Amino acid sequence: MGKKIAVIGSGAREHALVAALQRSGTGVSVTVWPGNDGMEGVLREGSLPGDPAHSARILSESGADLVVIGPEKPLMDGLADALRLRKVPVVGPGSGAARIEGSKSFAKELMQRVGIPTAEWAKVSGRSVALEFRKRWGLPLVFKADGLAQGKGVAVVKTEEEWEEALVRYFEKKDVPGGEVVLLERGLSGPEVSFIVATDGKRFVPFPTARDFKRIHDGDKGPNTGGMGALSPVPGWTAKDQERASEIIERCLWGLSKEGTPFSGFLYAGLMMTTDGPSVLEFNARMGDPEAQLLFEVLGDRALALMEEVAAGSLEAGWTLPPAPRVGVVLASEGYPDKPVLGEILEGLPSGEDSLSDGTYYLAGVSRENGVLRSSGGRVLTAVGRGESLMAARMAAYRLIKRIRLPGSQYRTDIALREAGEG
Ligand code: AMP
Ligand code: GLY
Repeated sequence: MGKKIAVIGSGAREHALVAALQRSGTGVSVTVWPGNDGMEGVLREGSLPGDPAHSARILSESGADLVVIGPEKPLMDGLADALRLRKVPVVGPGSGAARIEGSKSFAKELMQRVGIPTAEWAKVSGRSVALEFRKRWGLPLVFKADGLAQGKGVAVVKTEEEWEEALVRYFEKKDVPGGEVVLLERGLSGPEVSFIVATDGKRFVPFPTARDFKRIHDGDKGPNTGGMGALSPVPGWTAKDQERASEIIERCLWGLSKEGTPFSGFLYAGLMMTTDGPSVLEFNARMGDPEAQLLFEVLGDRALALMEEVAAGSLEAGWTLPPAPRVGVVLASEGYPDKPVLGEILEGLPSGEDSLSDGTYYLAGVSRENGVLRSSGGRVLTAVGRGESLMAARMAAYRLIKRIRLPGSQYRTDIALREAGEG
């Protein structure tokens, strides 16, 4: 009997995950819940109910030998816990450990307890308290919603005007997702690196470094999004950086384990490389998106082996995931992130028999009606280019993105532009 793997999620990250698992050998059958209409040649099931116990029962009865959870929401809701109760092997942390992403104040307090470098911070309840901290720290400052906000809960404040705007948004209009509790953080500066590991709670295997591009427009202008592109590996990353980043992961795993909520799955540290070394901006309890679209490719045909060891708590020593140059460019709908225009016809994807030698498309917000693919979400697809260098990978990614036609759509033209010159 072949192995049955269930993947939970519907984005380009999950498309890349499914593709990686399908490369892991014959006899592996991958089903995605619910997936999206752009995932061709993949078995799909419907959406799972919100209730984790009910979902776990459905997955268990479907005969899944392994469940891999892509997005944060089901992790925070306790789907991994419910699966473990039923003895279904699962990749993803329980809801206790997933608080590392779900609550920024929980993450900050843990970092302080275990000595992980991070910006000074405070919970602030309103204008006057915020002003106290501003007097102490000066600008730039960063406002953060404590809860989940899909990348939209953070405001970096550098000017007087931005300060006023943030006070109104966070304390008067209160229209920030996840913003019932607000954190104020001292602003740091430096390049950012996504340091992501697969871990069984004790051992961990680092993926190659990546960088994502969060702002909507070229030159890092405009509002934050779920991610407009990524590159891997980050040029100039040193053995010392690797050592310091690994120590951050070790401390985080140790702290969570000691406090009774061990973490197993993909742990993501969003680092800022300051002049004093790496400082943690955030932890995520899952693979990044769009980082996953690059990083799952480096697993080659070993994705299933890695994930089975993670789920079983028996990660072998000796895993290494060597870097391979990749650049991903996200195609987004007109109006994204504020008011995406949906329902436009998407054209230019290769048909089944066209094979692409230097890249791949991973689909996200699309739906198919009468054989026609249309946009149905803000981020529509990620084009991933491969090459011998970041420069070559970048050129491949842009060749792919330029073949796609979607009225009004947008993509950044400067993903990996600076780094391709360095790496
Ligand atoms: P977060 O969701 O906490 O990672 O924040 C989103 C983005 O806001 C980060 O990728 C950074 O670009 C920026 N950011 C967050 N915290 C800080 C900080 N303390 N100093 C400067 N920029 C920050
Ligand atoms: N790429 C950032 C994230 O997945 O949160």
